[in-house]
Amino acid sequence: MNKQAITYPVSEWEKYARLHASVTTSFQLAVYKETCKYLSGDIVDCGCGTAKIAPLLVGNNTVRSYTGIDFAEEMVTVSKWILQKLQQKSFTIEHSKIEDLKGKEEFFNSGVSIQSYYSWPNPFLVLSHIYKILAKSGIFVLVTPNESLSLEELAKEAEKELIAHPDFEAFKEYNLQLAENTQANFISMDSLISQVQEVGFKVQECHNNHFLGGLNFLVLKKG
Ligand SMILES: C[S@@+](CC[C@H](N)C(=O)[O-])C[C@H]1O[C@@H](n2cnc3c(N)ncnc32)[C@H](O)[C@@H]1O
Repeated sequence: MNKQAITYPVSEWEKYARLHASVTTSFQLAVYKETCKYLSGDIVDCGCGTAKIAPLLVGNNTVRSYTGIDFAEEMVTVSKWILQKLQQKSFTIEHSKIEDLKGKEEFFNSGVSIQSYYSWPNPFLVLSHIYKILAKSGIFVLVTPNESLSLEELAKEAEKELIAHPDFEAFKEYNLQLAENTQANFISMDSLISQVQEVGFKVQECHNNHFLGGLNFLVLKKG
């Protein structure tokens, strides 16, 4: 696979923004909630989408600031709308590629990237930049699908709780379409661990407990 090819053009994400904001499955919520346990201080959310994790950080005294980064304009518009509702002065959104974020070297105490890695044409470059913007001993939660992800199975389960949601069918179809992309970089836990170690991260925890085993969940520390 040519890792430099544009596997997911930004236009793919623009169309997804409204559905992404509108539907949350309990599978997603469980991931967001577990992730929040590791986040504190100045937090960066890399490929934040519609910043769905931000509302869960409100009221946590250990959180100083939240910075969501996303390169899709429509995601940024919707995430800003969500942050406006939260009324947290220290919660902001940057319209940028993760790897292009400037002036924040060694700034963030913790970071997260959920369901974004698989679309990065050059994951090593992006991970290296995340490493750079984290402070010494900073924690980074990386969550991304492995090859066993079955969106059909997940959709069947999610339908039980969201069957009457007006956006559920469209949400399901869009997710199936995103995962059908043959260039999606769904990666084994072992390969992902080798890659993050190459960047310099230490692996503190890792498991496949979410999404019926289809998700790699890693807690990393900057050495
Ligand atoms: C499936 S969404 C996930 C959103 C969010 N993290 C969540 O789990 O709810 C993936 C997001 O990653 C963003 N993205 C992908 N590559 C990016 C890059 N290099 N820089 C910034 N954003 C990126 C896309 O625009 C999209 O909003």
